[in-house]
Amino acid sequence: VSNVDEHLLERLGRACALAKLVGQSPAFLKATAAVPLFADSDAAVLISGETGAGKELLARAIHYLSPRAALPFVAVNCGALPDSLLENELFGHERGAFTDAQATREGLLAEAGRGTLFLDEIEALSPRAQVVLLRVLQDGSFRPLGSTRAERRAEARFVAATNTPLELEVQAGRFRADLYYRIGVLCVSVPPLRERPEDIVPLARHFLRKHAGAEAALELSASAEAALLAHRWPGNVRELENVILRAALLRRDGRLEAPDLGLRAAPAAAKPAGGSFNDLKRQAIDAFERDYLTRLMLEHSGNVSRAARAAGKERRDLGRLLKKHRLDSLSARSRHHA
Ligand SMILES: Nc1ncnc2c1ncn2[C@@H]1O[C@H](COP(=O)(O)OP(=O)(O)OP(=O)(O)O)[C@@H](O)[C@H]1O
Ligand SMILES: [Mg+2]
Repeated sequence: VSNVDEHLLERLGRACALAKLVGQSPAFLKATAAVPLFADSDAAVLISGETGAGKELLARAIHYLSPRAALPFVAVNCGALPDSLLENELFGHERGAFTDAQATREGLLAEAGRGTLFLDEIEALSPRAQVVLLRVLQDGSFRPLGSTRAERRAEARFVAATNTPLELEVQAGRFRADLYYRIGVLCVSVPPLRERPEDIVPLARHFLRKHAGAEAALELSASAEAALLAHRWPGNVRELENVILRAALLRRDGRLEAPDLGLRAAPAAAKPAGGSFNDLKRQAIDAFERDYLTRLMLEHSGNVSRAARAAGKERRDLGRLLKKHRLDSLSARSRHHA
């Protein structure tokens, strides 16, 4: 390791500490090695990675390590914004700009000032919204809706996140190539949790400290660690945090054993064959239901109504299924938001 690498590694460690980000695995360190360099630059950053992999936390780490650290970090969820609201959210409006505009309102771009503007789920931007964003990135200026005054400078640093590889969206014609090149000057891809198993147990301990509360020092048994390592983590770090949160709630003291985690047992193939057809079928269905429900709830951020709609089930039936699998903790009402 050269001196330069050591220096970068040390700064990366500092960024992780600042953002309370756990990541010691070779895969994670390799993927994020350039982050300290990104932090020094004003160029736009594109962070890609599966759901729950830690894109937003990494965006914060970049911000905290940058000269803008003391300035605001403002997040915009592009996926949650209908087309018609994007400009209003980003640029704000003058009083009287439209029927409901009773007062002048600053947009998020002005709120971020010279800090960092985090554009989450950028892959979800509509074609029209893409044009709007491209214009800001190109011109470095914007005008609040209804404003007749001079344009204002956009001084924020842009960091965007995407769940799907944006270059594929470009190839498929769903994302403008020119915007892709503007927003992805610097790129970093957060590896999924299953590709960095060395991070699983340290993350689990981190979440135990975070959620067990000071009074109860919970430990992981060897069987619990093995179960964590055997799981595939489709919901990545967020899923791990939810598993630990649920286990810490159900089990207030002592040591967590594998069953306390409520993960489904090792894949059927690893188990000795045997048992009646009906038993094995029941187990397979249970495993499928658990897996499906976990993904579904993570995908819809714990919103039961939306999840039910997506799954084509009645809200009540979905609630019952979640209860049956003791997955109610994945619903937003009982979920902890970091
Ligand atoms: N390396 C990490 N160390 C500690 N906590 C982490 C880490 N990665 C993720 N988390 C936590 O896991 C949760 C999900 O992370 P985050 O919101 O950054 O993921 P994301 O990639 O933005 O997910 P999504 O695509 O669903 O928006 C958060 O509560 C975050 O604090
Ligand atoms: Mg996110």
